Amino acid sequence: MKIIEFTPLGDSRGSLVALEANKSIPFDIKRVYYIFATNMGVSRGYHAHRNLKQVAVCVTGSCRFILDDGFERQEVVLDSSTKGLLIEGLIWREMHDFTPDCVLMVLASDYYDEDDYIRDYHKFVKEAREQH
Ligand code: TYD
Repeated sequence: MKIIEFTPLGDSRGSLVALEANKSIPFDIKRVYYIFATNMGVSRGYHAHRNLKQVAVCVTGSCRFILDDGFERQEVVLDSSTKGLLIEGLIWREMHDFTPDCVLMVLASDYYDEDDYIRDYHKFVKEAREQH
């Protein structure tokens, strides 16, 4: 897990952030998706990826990530359009506490592939611990 700080290009009109593959985003971006209009009290995620790299940006609003490497859990609150959360390697992720206005944009290193997901927590912990 790493927080990437984006440089806002601001002027008297307001702000702009540009994200470029292999520059501010450390991989080739093959997919972008965004999560929005999340209903109150809903949590999402609850999976790990075997190979996918992702950068998550809370463009508006905020949400809280839990990141788990199979040994310990970390919490990160994303509440800034100029910060990206880089998630790579075998990490279990959960997203909680979405504000009603939250737009969570995710840049991903590959196309959607259900085979890259581990959706069972116990299976994830076993695979993560076997890697060490
Ligand atoms: P899901 O994995 O449940 O989302 P989250 O990680 O936020 O909990 O995805 C919701 C649905 O959308 C599921 O049917 C899979 C589909 N989906 C795609 O078709 N393409 C994508 O890029 C993503 C992320 C999900």
